[in-house]
Amino acid sequence: MTNIVLATANAHKAEEMRAVLEPLGIHLLARPDDVAEVDETESTLEGNALLKAHALARATGTPAIADDTGLFVDALDGAPGVYSARYAGEGASYDDNVEKLLGELRGVARPARGARFRTVIAVAYPTGEDFWVEGVLEGSVAEQRRGTSGFGYDPVFIPDEAPERTLAELSAAEKNQLSHRGRALRFVANRLAK
Ligand code: IMP
Repeated sequence: MTNIVLATANAHKAEEMRAVLEPLGIHLLARPDDVAEVDETESTLEGNALLKAHALARATGTPAIADDTGLFVDALDGAPGVYSARYAGEGASYDDNVEKLLGELRGVARPARGARFRTVIAVAYPTGEDFWVEGVLEGSVAEQRRGTSGFGYDPVFIPDEAPERTLAELSAAEKNQLSHRGRALRFVANRLAK
């Protein structure tokens, strides 16, 4: 069993990460309460994921794993992208962000509603070494919310591989099977097994 400390305090993300990694022999330790969260000050997903993983590896003396995710929408020239968490402003809720996205896309027809989720997962070691991997999920933005599972933009994201449903209408296992995060996590597990 490999032990890695997890940078995110987001319970939804942590649950998805554990569900994929634990069966592959990678045990995720919770971030100690006395280690402060790091601000995402970089302009790329990989920059932010590396920043968070290195800060935690340094603070704990243990290998650390961090994820940064963005939703990139064609009709919005790739927005909200790296700024997906604060699309509707600092401290915005999931619902605020979804509302803003649906508003920006009002009147935009299907082909231009194309979008992708990108997740970058970085692993950093106390020695300063690191690596990162990326998982992508292609799809489109629905015209209204559907479904109650998952989190964030899931109720309005229709994956190309399950075109009848939004991510929020998939079970947790189905989402992990095809999602950006599930893919990136399986790449991480492969790298750690080498
Ligand atoms: P961050 O990686 O926490 O910065 O996430 C950026 C934004 O994307 C947040 O608003 C998240 O809620 C959203 N997000 C991250 N991962 C997912 C996902 O798997 N599905 C839907 N929204 C997500």
